[in-house]
Amino acid sequence: MKVVAMIGSPHKDGPSTRLALEAVRGARDAGHEVTVYYLNDMNVRGCQGCGTCKNNGIDCILQDDLKPYWGKLHEADALILSAPNYAANVCGPMITYMNRHYCLIDKNWKPRIHPGIQVIALFAQGNGDREMYMDVYRWFVADFENRKMVTKDLIVHVRDDGEVTPEHPLAKRAYQAGATL
Ligand SMILES: Cc1cc2nc3c(=O)[nH]c(=O)nc-3n(C[C@H](O)[C@H](O)[C@H](O)COP(=O)(O)O)c2cc1C
Repeated sequence: MKVVAMIGSPHKDGPSTRLALEAVRGARDAGHEVTVYYLNDMNVRGCQGCGTCKNNGIDCILQDDLKPYWGKLHEADALILSAPNYAANVCGPMITYMNRHYCLIDKNWKPRIHPGIQVIALFAQGNGDREMYMDVYRWFVADFENRKMVTKDLIVHVRDDGEVTPEHPLAKRAYQAGATL
């Protein structure tokens, strides 16, 4: 199975990245091939709203660091997404990345990618109320579900959960999600 991971936090050692890497580890241990992207290291522009994708039924034509990603995604069976919460929402760069998936809907508003890509979504927030931002996390994954992807797990880390080590219950859950793709 092929898996793509998009890590959204600038913190390579923060809770959202650590959880994502546990899901990646689980997937690799299960024998899957995982390609990991670190969004903060990439040059990724916002959707230009040019309509070229929709009018021509093609992937985004922007020549930036997402270019190789589209091919990987078309081959993928699973997508691991992680992000911190900034200003009561998913961090801006991840929303920019999410917006770029506009190209996966055709001009008849039908998804232009194979159905059933499994999504594992991992979010980290400071606020201790795990439910507080659930609506925005669900809104975020809904954009992928609208492309016939299926959310396998959605995990939220709150500050009081503490450091994410492989023994942490949330890390075990993330690992398990990856291992059972
Ligand atoms: C610019 C900024 C805005 C933030 N806004 C919120 C917020 O609105 N609500 C919240 O619960 N946490 C907020 N946080 C805290 C982060 O979500 C929290 O520290 C999270 O654990 C960071 O995860 P990461 O280290 O994986 O990136 C904010 C942090 C930053 C830097």
